[in-house]
Amino acid sequence: MTLPYDILPAEVLAPVAAAWLARQIGQAQAARGVAHIALSGGSTPRALFRLLAEPAWQPRIDWARTHVWWVDERCVPPDHHDSNYGAAYTLLFQHLAVTQLHRIHGDLPPDAAADRYEEALRHVFRLGPRARPRFDFMLMGMGADGHTASLFPGSAALAERRRLATVGAAPNPPRQRVTLTLPVLNRAAFSLFLVAGADKGAALAQIFGPASDRDPLPAALVQPTRGRLLWLIDTAAAAAAGLLP
Ligand code: 6PG
Repeated sequence: MTLPYDILPAEVLAPVAAAWLARQIGQAQAARGVAHIALSGGSTPRALFRLLAEPAWQPRIDWARTHVWWVDERCVPPDHHDSNYGAAYTLLFQHLAVTQLHRIHGDLPPDAAADRYEEALRHVFRLGPRARPRFDFMLMGMGADGHTASLFPGSAALAERRRLATVGAAPNPPRQRVTLTLPVLNRAAFSLFLVAGADKGAALAQIFGPASDRDPLPAALVQPTRGRLLWLIDTAAAAAAGLLP
């Protein structure tokens, strides 16, 4: 499949991602006065969060006019070591004057957390009953199994087309998650995948390799209908996937 990607040394992934993030936020704020971004969790974004918290980077983004949302969340309290919100807050947002943090309430029962997040999306984006939010920037990751957000291969969450947020079942703990659904992911103005590590090689090879009759992996289904997509892949992952020239 020919999805747009760049291969970069691992240490360059975060600075390049930060530059794209700053550019997209700036463009959205210039156009509409405010930006809405959604962040994935896991380990890959941590270097980006640390970089954005550095004094040299803090003034490059107007966080006071940025709404921060999450692509997905594990059903754990915000201070739990598995919390995506908790990691981003600890590494980045506790250092910033950002006030519009819309966390997924992983401390609630999963269905209630999904409902509450959906209500928050509809309220803040002022959505009608059938409308979907359009994020200015979405930071996406991919698991070794090709999942993205908390949309795992063959899962009911991956097939959900009506709701904005739903409960996702993960094959490994924490097994219960809340996730944005694929139609919401594909309305983004800009989706940036950060993928690093040789363990992602097999999934990348399936996505970027020759067409096959296998079901597409969830990460390959993220193709914004009216937006831009870019995969930033580190050299270890690219080498393992056979993508290096
Ligand atoms: C999560 C993420 C998930 C993540 C991938 C990659 O909650 O785990 O949102 O979709 O992006 O699992 O995770 P790593 O960056 O840790 O490899």
